Amino acid sequence: MSVLVVGPADSIGPGEVKSVQVKLGAAPAVIGEAEETGPPGTAAIVVAHTEDGGWYAIGDVCSHGPVLLSEGEFDGCTLECWGHGSRFDLATGVPENLPANVAVPTYPVSIESGQVVIQLGEESDDHA
Ligand code: FES
Repeated sequence: MSVLVVGPADSIGPGEVKSVQVKLGAAPAVIGEAEETGPPGTAAIVVAHTEDGGWYAIGDVCSHGPVLLSEGEFDGCTLECWGHGSRFDLATGVPENLPANVAVPTYPVSIESGQVVIQLGEESDDHA
């Protein structure tokens, strides 16, 4: 398990998302904005701050094709892929409707000293 500081929480208002490309491994780091097909050993992650104050982080690339979910519509607790319209639940990563039928990864989020912090699981480390 490794921890990633994404940035200041007050830079992501309610109803907003932040999309980042993350270098995985023992010392993960944000290396830029998310890419549909990032370099090996990295992952695209979107942090979402819901209107009701919730914080979520999921994989930013749609499981159906190379489309960034952060570029789709953010509604309630879902992000809709603009490619073919699948809506992904931010809490579970599971698509609520076809054509996507595979979940994207989810990451626990906490706010610590005003910073958005994500826990990257062992599965993510395996790809570093
Ligand atoms: S690329 Fe996202 S639903 Fe098809």
